[in-house]
Amino acid sequence: MTATIADQKTARGLVSALYVRTKALHTEAERSGIVVDILRGEASRDDYVLFLRNLVPAYRELEEGLARHAASPILGELARYRLDRASAIESDLEVLSGQGWEARVPLLPAAETYAAKIADAAGGDGSRLIAHAYTRYLGDLNGGQILSRLLAKALDLGPHELSFYDFSRFADPDALKSDYRLAIDRAGDAVSDPAAVVEEGALAFSLNIALSEAVQQAAGTTAPAR
Ligand code: HEM
Repeated sequence: MTATIADQKTARGLVSALYVRTKALHTEAERSGIVVDILRGEASRDDYVLFLRNLVPAYRELEEGLARHAASPILGELARYRLDRASAIESDLEVLSGQGWEARVPLLPAAETYAAKIADAAGGDGSRLIAHAYTRYLGDLNGGQILSRLLAKALDLGPHELSFYDFSRFADPDALKSDYRLAIDRAGDAVSDPAAVVEEGALAFSLNIALSEAVQQAAGTTAPAR
């Protein structure tokens, strides 16, 4: 008999329920789109710029949503971490592509859809935002560190072009990972409908896979980013 969300929640907490629900999608995310091109060292600098540019709207929505719910008993603790990747990505794009990148580098429909879904998740008590914070921030603290090292080598990118993955503001990024997971569990304890948050986690991964595939598809056809 499959354990109900209530059992998982009481037994193992929201973060483990998200982990279990998204495990297969995580494997798919690692093996598809521009992400697998980066892993194989086959992505060009322009491809990477297109990928970064199309992650910006999602992070802006996520961080605006968390800031809006900063006083909420559900999201307050997560919001206080201020992991803020949007500004880091924007500064990487400034270095990689130069001023005016926002107008010059194409915004893909998959990126607009992803951002709109996050804006939707920020509605009401904002509890579904937990799933988007889980997917992106724990992704950046895990696989993102691997991508950063690969990009530094494959595309000869320097720290000012990789600040997206830089969490050195935090004393111990590993402790940050486990602390943030525990903070997600505590947020989960205040949520009235944890099953909706877990399903939002699956949606968040699917939106990431769709974005990654859209960037891969578009990458070969767009003009150089500079
Ligand atoms: C480049 C491809 C990727 C690699 C090599 C990678 C690698 C990893 C590794 C080693 C972990 C920690 C192991 C674990 O706790 O299971 C992890 C966790 C995670 N990854 Fe990835 N990942 C990749 C892509 C992604 C993508 C594209 C996303 C989402 C957009 C993502 C989201 C996550 C999340 C949310 C976790 C935390 C799981 C948890 O602690 O509950 N990863 N990843």
